[in-house]
Formats: sequence, structure tokens, C-alpha cells
Amino acid sequence: MVGTDLRDALTARDEHVVALTRRDLDVTDSRSVDLCVREHAPSVIINCAAYTKVDQAEAEESAANAINGSAVELLANAANAVGALLVHVSSDFVFDGAKTSPYEADDPTGPLSAYGRSKLLGEIAAAHAERHLIVRTSWLFGVHGPNFVEAIRNQIRKGTNPLRVVSDQRGRPTYTPHLAAAIIRLAELADDSPGAQGIVHYADAAECSWFDFATAVAEESGAATEIRPVSTDEFPRPARRPAYSGLSTARYEELTGVAPASWREGLREYLTVRS
Ligand SMILES: NC(=O)c1ccc[n+]([C@@H]2O[C@H](COP(=O)([O-])OP(=O)(O)OC[C@H]3O[C@@H](n4cnc5c(N)ncnc54)[C@H](OP(=O)(O)O)[C@@H]3O)[C@@H](O)[C@H]2O)c1
Repeated sequence: MVGTDLRDALTARDEHVVALTRRDLDVTDSRSVDLCVREHAPSVIINCAAYTKVDQAEAEESAANAINGSAVELLANAANAVGALLVHVSSDFVFDGAKTSPYEADDPTGPLSAYGRSKLLGEIAAAHAERHLIVRTSWLFGVHGPNFVEAIRNQIRKGTNPLRVVSDQRGRPTYTPHLAAAIIRLAELADDSPGAQGIVHYADAAECSWFDFATAVAEESGAATEIRPVSTDEFPRPARRPAYSGLSTARYEELTGVAPASWREGLREYLTVRS
């Protein structure tokens, strides 16, 4: 989802991009990673590859750790070999959700799930790149993959009414083309200056609950479906999610001078593009 939008955004800027799918490069294969990075000798490596099945990761933690953790170590070593900046995408799920005000980049982490732990391993590994940028983001939706918006639309199409959606988890939905633009801005700055490296949060504005987000999907789709708020307890899932994962984008705004885009505007664009 993110990788495709990033490739499109970079291509539109006439950047020289080598966009690789899993078929082209298995990031857990150390020899392939090494050969590939030496062959292309990129100035910037952006890692969008990940194990993203949050619930399944509870039963497959070693697979999640291999892709989200160890593979990032391989990329960091390869980046160091060619002097590249490593840009790594991470997640709000590295936090435990106990805070009630936005998470800053240097707040203590405390993942609640196997997926969150694997993403934290990836952050630690990415920091082994001499030049690195870790972009934490949250609640992604984009046209190139399954996501919450599509799940709600599918339920609306099936005629589920009312549609029950959890209202006690809050975060910041993020449209992947907005994230792609933010990553490009941040990578340019980090490539030029060590002061812009490290961990930065990017998420769209503003904070809401999954219930609010689903209500917006129904409204923007012109559906009459009733969206009914329910609690997380009524929807048991294998992986625990943070109750609150609003990411503070203060550092992003300071570095770039740009305010985060609106997820509601992203949603309108999404519904036009993915009709
Ligand atoms: N989705 C969210 O809500 C969310 C929220 C916060 C952060 N993030 C982070 O954002 C990043 C991008 O997520 P996304 O939603 O774009 O994920 P995605 O659509 O699931 O894309 C992940 C890609 O990684 C590929 N991949 C998996 N294992 C690989 C391997 N061993 N070698 C090479 N490629 C491999 C997958 O290929 P296959 O499809 O063939 O397996 C897939 O194309 C991830 O780091 C994720 O943790 C996501």
C-alpha cells in the first residue's frame, strides 16, 4: 500500500527510483539484500516491506520478527556499505496506549502485541544505519491494499445495518499518498542534515475513534447505514491494540514547516479514485 504510492510520488517528481516487490527482493535474504544494494548503490533506501497481519502475528511472531526486525538489520548494514540514508516506516503500535495526550517521538515505547514488538525490533535495527530516518505512522488507508475504509465499504455493500464499530480506541487515520509526500519531504531533509534524522511521527489530522472514522466513511459514501459505537471488549481480537495512539506531529511540522494533511480530504480522494 505505502510502497506503491511512494513509487508513484517519486516517479511523478522524476526521481530515479528502483521499486522492488517481494518477488524482486526478499528482504530477509541477506545475500540478496547485499547484492541488490551494491548493484543499485542508492543514495536513499526506503523500507516499506513489512509483515502487517497484526492478529496473525500473535501466532507467527518469529515470521513477524524476521521481516519487521532482522531484515531491517540487513538493510541497515547494506545502507552503511554504500553510505545510503535508510528510511524505515514504523507504527503507532510500538506504544502501549496508556497516555491520553499525543505521543512524542521520544516517549517510552511499550508494545502490547507481537506485531508491535516486531516493529520495535525494526526501529532498533534501523538505528544501526549511520544515517537513518524512522517514520512512525498510524491507521493507514490507501487504494493499493486492504484497509479499514474498504472493510467498512464492504459491510455497507453487504447491507450490514447497523454496523458496530469500536469507539474506545483513538488515533489518527492517514491516507497513504499523504504519508508518501511526508516521507519524501522528511527524507530530503534527513539526507542533507543529521539534525533531521532519527524518529519522526507523521499522521494525518485530526485524532478520532474508529467509530468516528467509520461514520465519516458512511457519510462520504452517501450510505444510510447506522454506525453504532461499541467497546473493544465486545470485539475480542487475538492482538491487543493501544486504546490511545495519537501521534504528535510536532517534530514533523517543525522540520518541514508543513501542517499534516486532513484524513477526511484523503478519504474523499480515496472514494473518487477507488470507486
Ligand atoms: N497499515 C497500517 O495501518 C499501518 C499503520 C502503521 C504503520 N504501518 C507500517 O507501514 C509500512 C507499510 O505498510 P503497508 O500497509 O503498506 O503494508 P502492506 O500493504 O502489507 O505492504 C507490505 C509489503 O511488504 C511485502 N513483504 C512482506 N514480506 C517481505 C519480504 N520478506 N521481502 C520483501 N517484501 C516483503 C509484502 O509483500 P506480500 O504482499 O507479497 O507479502 C507487501 O507488498 C509497514 O512498515 C507497516 O508496519 C502500517
